[in-house]
Amino acid sequence: MVKIAPSILSADFSRLGEEVRRVESAGADWVHVDVMDGMFVPNLTFGPTVIKHVRPYTQLPFDVHLMIVKPERYLKQFAEAGADLITVHVEASDQVRQSLDTVHVLGKGAGLSVNPETAFERAVPYLEQLELLLVMSVRPGFGGQSFMPDVMPKVREACRLKEENGYRYEIEVDGGINRHTAKICVEAGASVLVAGNALFGLADMGAEMSIWKGYEKVNSGNAL
Ligand code: DX5
Ligand code: ZN
Repeated sequence: MVKIAPSILSADFSRLGEEVRRVESAGADWVHVDVMDGMFVPNLTFGPTVIKHVRPYTQLPFDVHLMIVKPERYLKQFAEAGADLITVHVEASDQVRQSLDTVHVLGKGAGLSVNPETAFERAVPYLEQLELLLVMSVRPGFGGQSFMPDVMPKVREACRLKEENGYRYEIEVDGGINRHTAKICVEAGASVLVAGNALFGLADMGAEMSIWKGYEKVNSGNAL
């Protein structure tokens, strides 16, 4: 069954602790934490100190998505703040392999993300090392953007390579996920869905997530 990782980018930042509690009681699987530096993306959010303060409010794994330049500078701080999975962007540094290794040395799951305009081939050399492959379905930086269906071939290809080679990574899609686009992602082979706007506005986030969890992969037999 697909896992759901609500993005606290769409939460009420004045009540972040209560918001992650709400996510947990609604039945979410992970908490998705969007870290932005105003350089890699044109927006700023928060850093390790905020994560450390929110961490005690839930038992759910923290899936920390680093949209920052040269993330290798901060991996230790995010690990110490309570991240369980740490994802770096393939476009953000020339030290991708070292960063993934560092995340493992810190005892955390290593994720790699690809922007919509980045060729999937850029991620292929690292697939064997990953616990998580994050396929961006919007240009990172802001919640509430429209889903880009043309990234779905990356999801199908990631699925094919995983099955062929016995890789262990989850395939996560992030950006513009709602009831309709969630189905498209799961049918293509996504195993984790990130969603901000489509969930946080709802009084009953759990009911919506149950619908998404009913979707199943469709085996097209065609990778691309
Ligand atoms: C975008 C972030 C996403 C974002 C998703 O840069 O990585 O996690 O919060 O928000 P929605 O679901 O509103 O597109
Ligand atoms: Zn994200």
